[in-house]
Amino acid sequence: MSRPLLQLALDYTELQPALRDAALLSDSVDIIEAGTLLCLTEGLEAVRQLRQLCPQKLIVADWKVADAGETLAEQAFNAGANWMTVICAAPLATVEKAHQVAVARGGEIQIELFGNWTFDDARAWHKTGIRQAIYHRGRDAQASGQTWGAEDLARMKVLSDIGLELSITGGITPADLPLFRDINVKAFIAGRALSGATNPQQVAQDFHVQIREIWGAKA
Ligand code: 5RP
Repeated sequence: MSRPLLQLALDYTELQPALRDAALLSDSVDIIEAGTLLCLTEGLEAVRQLRQLCPQKLIVADWKVADAGETLAEQAFNAGANWMTVICAAPLATVEKAHQVAVARGGEIQIELFGNWTFDDARAWHKTGIRQAIYHRGRDAQASGQTWGAEDLARMKVLSDIGLELSITGGITPADLPLFRDINVKAFIAGRALSGATNPQQVAQDFHVQIREIWGAKA
């Protein structure tokens, strides 16, 4: 198991606070995500500006693409993204098209696991060459009381065995990390825990302390 990375998700509906947080936390995180909310509001400019502000960072375009995989992947990677998300409900043809563009640009596609998907889907994604997925508890599901449980952990282990590297997200805080100690985690993706904090840099440090304590010996 390698040591999980920390990803900042910028889910603002305006660019300025997103750029402010990116500048503040760039040295404290490994990956910066142009969140779905931000991209729906500000479009490609969100990815372009984050690339300009953080030239050395991995940048994710969290577009949750459902169709037109080739065109949207070209736009995301041209704007400076390293990784782009495709929703698990997308047809396999969309996944394949997006993946082909990603490979040509040295990028990667991440499959967003929300709602309905199966392990056969996961095997099919892996067969196309996809190597990353995001295990996601949606914010609406969280607000309606959905918690992390044994079923999630069991499904994560099967996904790992299939060969998918997993990032985990959905209201994650540093206190949640011990729950995932037996999972091979690519990255923890945190939005509100960082952006909503009084001292976001301190919270980022709290994440890193937990990550080192739990996975440090395994890095
Ligand atoms: C929402 C997302 C978010 O970026 C992700 O879940 C992280 O945000 P938070 O930590 O606030 O839940 O992809 O669809």
